[in-house]
Amino acid sequence: MIKAAGVMGFPISHSLSPRLHGYWIKKYGLEATYVAWEVPPERLAAKLKNLPDLLGENGELFRGTNLTIPLKEKALEIVDIVEEDARAIGAINTVVVEGDGLLIGRNTDGIGFIDSLAEKIDVADFKGKTALVLGAGGAAKAIVFALIKMGFAKILITNRTRTRAEELADHLTDGTEVLDWDERESVLSQVSLVVNTTSLGMKGQPALEMSLQGLKAGAVVTDIVYTPLKTGLLLEAEKNGFVAVDGLGMLLHQAKAGFEAWFGVRPEVDADLREFVLQGLADK
Ligand SMILES: NC(=O)c1ccc[n+]([C@@H]2O[C@H](COP(=O)([O-])OP(=O)(O)OC[C@H]3O[C@@H](n4cnc5c(N)ncnc54)[C@H](OP(=O)(O)O)[C@@H]3O)[C@@H](O)[C@H]2O)c1
Repeated sequence: MIKAAGVMGFPISHSLSPRLHGYWIKKYGLEATYVAWEVPPERLAAKLKNLPDLLGENGELFRGTNLTIPLKEKALEIVDIVEEDARAIGAINTVVVEGDGLLIGRNTDGIGFIDSLAEKIDVADFKGKTALVLGAGGAAKAIVFALIKMGFAKILITNRTRTRAEELADHLTDGTEVLDWDERESVLSQVSLVVNTTSLGMKGQPALEMSLQGLKAGAVVTDIVYTPLKTGLLLEAEKNGFVAVDGLGMLLHQAKAGFEAWFGVRPEVDADLREFVLQGLADK
């Protein structure tokens, strides 16, 4: 039986998931396919419900799908079972079709973020420390969830629109505190991890105005924006001797759990994969 999975989004042509999963399918010599579907939000329920009965062009059976913007939140009311991580984050990025046809919704963004940091540092060292999160959009929910999982004692959240930061803090209570956007540099001496989850610094977007003067010695700086790979924030971090972690790792690591559930192989994130996906980014 040939297994298949895909990614649904609207639009979908920007997605790197087919390239990423296609690389692993080839690397592990699997009889499998991974496709991209453009699905308008109003068609999501029908598309997902049909997945267990869908046959691919070569008779492939669909084992699940990834979901991307703007479908991640809507899927919560459609799948049969929502796993704990997805419920806490409030979004689903991976759907797995169980043997009985039930649809299971997961969120692997938080664990992808943790695994990406773990490539460079021992994340256990963050236990009891303070983190600063810039931004309170869709991606920030998964990041704050991951920080709670990592054992941070305090998570400071700042966002241009303060009410969104407050909503995020209320949703994921433990140890969160909201700051005004203008206060973002004033807390750096307490902070062991800085995470940019805003779209600032992304190609085509304004720069992130953020000096790292006064950041605690030994702190880690990470940016989930990955176009460009080295954002202004990461360049500033490296210049000042801080460990800098780019956003591509999160994108690659979040994909592992879905691939394993659909195709039965735990894939690896390595330098060759990074290079291959980066080439795809350059072509977009
Ligand atoms: N590495 C990965 O795997 C990964 C995964 C997901 C997302 N991302 C990246 O993360 C970024 C955010 O994605 P998202 O889905 O969270 O987007 P989103 O829901 O639209 O949130 C955007 C965030 O950026 C802030 N922002 C936008 N323009 C701003 C400005 N001029 N000044 C200050 N803040 C501004 C917004 O603040 P307001 O609330 O005030 O509007 C909000 O906090 C994107 O670059 C995306 O590509 C990366």
